[in-house]
Order: sequence, then structure tokens, then C-alpha cells
Amino acid sequence: MRLLVTGTQGQVARAMIERGAATGVAVETLGRPAYDLLEPSGIAQAIGAACADVVVNAAAYTAVDKAESEPDLAMRVNRDGAGAIAQAAAKRGLPVIQLSTDYVFDGTLERPYREDDPVAPINVYGGAKLAGERAVAAANPTHVVLRTAWVYSPFGANFVKTMLRLGETRAAVNVVADQWGSPTSALDIADAVLAIARRLRAAPRDPSLYGVFHLVGSGEATWADFAKAIFSEAERYGRKPVGVVPIATSDYPTLARRPANSRLDTAKLQKIYGIRLPDWRASLAPCVARLLGR
Ligand SMILES: NC(=O)c1ccc[n+]([C@@H]2O[C@H](COP(=O)([O-])OP(=O)(O)OC[C@H]3O[C@@H](n4cnc5c(N)ncnc54)[C@H](OP(=O)(O)O)[C@@H]3O)[C@@H](O)[C@H]2O)c1
Repeated sequence: MRLLVTGTQGQVARAMIERGAATGVAVETLGRPAYDLLEPSGIAQAIGAACADVVVNAAAYTAVDKAESEPDLAMRVNRDGAGAIAQAAAKRGLPVIQLSTDYVFDGTLERPYREDDPVAPINVYGGAKLAGERAVAAANPTHVVLRTAWVYSPFGANFVKTMLRLGETRAAVNVVADQWGSPTSALDIADAVLAIARRLRAAPRDPSLYGVFHLVGSGEATWADFAKAIFSEAERYGRKPVGVVPIATSDYPTLARRPANSRLDTAKLQKIYGIRLPDWRASLAPCVARLLGR
């Protein structure tokens, strides 16, 4: 099986490269500067010329706060770029897997969000990603939209790496304790994407395989819970204990609003694909081990 993945340095793209190599799947990445979602014709040409089985759009404008002042750029990348990739895949008769986000929801529901719950983004990034979901669906009937959340990995910039960096110099860190979600390992996402791609290749005409699915780590946490678990794991590698002071979202103002409830119900993915990601704590341990292990 051969996958074409956008983004070379992104967390999910790097995880796809690593897990593809480990499982004998050829993963070719299309990244900047040669391939830019702002100029999607180059990527479309590459999709047209490649001999891939599935196209995965893992590249995106992901600067959530900066997006508030760059809405046009966020739309061009996350809506127009995503749509162009899905269309290029459709022209070749290939399915597309599009990564999306919990930020399509406003977070006011008091249970984990299901795929068909009403969307209502509360920030520019979420609006652009939702527009991307719609552009992908319009361009390519064989699409799988995977909404994920709170992604971390040994690669790139993420909450785990930020906490480990802060913990080097601080005895305690203030962390938001009134937003709920499910920390999700990019390596687990990559394994799920590979399993989904295999199914799409094996049964391309099965309509139940297409549509929107939620894909997050099992279990739930607040950012403060997540931070506590990170510092606790870090102690195994000789790091000194770091306190976590729970604070409210209102005590940590950001340019973009975040949903209070980012929990996603993953029952549909489990039912259709038989995929359930490991508990987030189980996947956090090897990530911290890679970052701090000697
Ligand atoms: N991170 C999260 O917590 C989170 C949560 C929910 C959903 N998601 C979604 O999951 C997917 C993967 O996220 P991630 O964490 O892997 O993101 P990431 O680490 O921020 O990587 C984003 C990738 O997109 C690329 N990119 C950005 N603008 C581009 C452009 N104009 N042209 C081509 N490539 C461009 C970046 O390229 P450079 O390397 O050149 O900068 C980078 O490789 C995205 O769709 C994201 O929206 C992420």
C-alpha cells in the first residue's frame, strides 16, 4: 500500500512516516517549500502523477491564536487547500483522509460530541477547519474526515513538550482545569490512519467507510490532569516534582476562544472500523520516555 501525505514536518505527518516505515507501508510526504497548500496546483499535480492508494491531508494552518488575525490565510489553507487536495484525489479515483478538529464544536454540550451533533465553531481556526470538511466532502465522495483533538507526540510543538520545558525551570505551573478533552498521540493517529487506509483499499465500494469519524485517545482529562500526568512520568527520568496549580480559562486569556468541552465520542469509529485508541495515559508514557529517556 502507498500513501501520499501532505506536510513533512507536522506531528501527524512525521508519525505517519515513522509508523509507515515500521509496518511496511510506503509513505510519501509532500511538504513545504516544494508543496504549499497556498498554491495547491503543485500538490494536485503530484497527486495526479503519483501511484498512491490513498491521499492523507495532514497539513493545515494550525496556529489557533494567530488565525484570529489571519482569517483569510487560515481559510485559504484549511478550506481551499484541503478542497483542492480532495478534488485532485477524486480525479485519480482515490479516497482522501482529511484530519479535522474538535474545534468545529462550541463545547457547550455536557457529554462527548458525536459526529452528527450540531457544529458551531467559536474561533477562526475551527471555522476554517469546518469549511475544509465541507470543501473535502463536496470535492470527493470517497472522503474520510477524522476529527481529533489535543494532539501530542515526540515531534514538533505540543503541550507535552511545553510542560517538560517549563518543568525544567519552575517548581509549579498554572494550568487550565475547566476545559475537558482527550489527549491524543499522533503515533496512535498514524496507526489508525494506516488501518483505515487498508480498509478503504480492501473495500473501496463500502459506503459505510466514508464520512465523518471522531478519533481521540480513550479516557478524558482537563489540561491540568494532562500536565500532572506529564510531570509524574517525567519523575521516572530523574526530573524533580513540578506542582500543577489549577486555574480557570478566564485566568488564562488567549486570542482565540477554546471550547470548554472538547470530548469526542468515538463509538462510530469503533463500530465501523473496529478502531479504539489506547487510553491517553498509556500512550503518554512512551512519548515522555522518548523525550527524556537516556
Ligand atoms: N495539534 C492538535 O492538537 C490538533 C488538534 C485537532 C486537530 N488537529 C488537526 O490534525 C492535523 C495534523 O495536525 P498536526 O498537529 O500534525 O499539525 P502541525 O504539527 O502543526 O503541522 C502542520 C503541518 O502543516 C503544514 N502546513 C501549514 N501550512 C501549510 C501550507 N500553507 N502548505 C503546506 N503545508 C502547510 C506545516 O508545514 P511546515 O512544517 O512547513 O510548517 C506542518 O507540516 C491538522 O489537520 C490539524 O488541524 C490537530
